[in-house]
Amino acid sequence: MAHAYPDMPYFINPSLAFNDEKKHLAYQQANADLDALLQDETDVILKMVSINCILKTHLPYYYWVGFYCVNEGKLIVGPYQGTLGCLHIEFKKGVCGAVANTKQTMIVPDVHALSQGDEHIACDPNSQSEIVVPVLNQQKELIAVFDVDSSMTNSFNDIDKQYLESIMNRHFSSSPLSQTCLV
Ligand code: SME
Repeated sequence: MAHAYPDMPYFINPSLAFNDEKKHLAYQQANADLDALLQDETDVILKMVSINCILKTHLPYYYWVGFYCVNEGKLIVGPYQGTLGCLHIEFKKGVCGAVANTKQTMIVPDVHALSQGDEHIACDPNSQSEIVVPVLNQQKELIAVFDVDSSMTNSFNDIDKQYLESIMNRHFSSSPLSQTCLV
């Protein structure tokens, strides 16, 4: 069931729930689209904008989707789709900062169960659940984190984790250290 809010920005659709079977089908189609589109692509930014668009096209519970790029020891917002994303995030702050520190994926079933401003940063009040995945380059250095918000709680599970970690590995692990997501 759609979780719409009267003040939801007109260009953003509320998240729609997907069961595990639908998730598998959607990610398989998204992977096929990404492989066809990015097979010869080497530019990090073009890969990021494509991943945002194709995943948001196939997965209706994706409310906000985007990358936070590593820059001088903190995170700055990179390519994304959705309402206004926070511009700067310290490594020790939020879910993104925690993932940047640990390089381990985090799934948050209910963002309001976390301490706001410390464990979670609410860029959009409609965000209810979240998954954040590390993005590593060829040298296993962190170049970004991939962040997805849903306007419903409990939207993300191990299926999302497996597919998203595979997508980040498939499309960024060949990126040399010189390639970052900073224009
Ligand atoms: N919720 C994230 C901040 C990014 S906004 O969701 C786009 C966090 O807690 O790090």
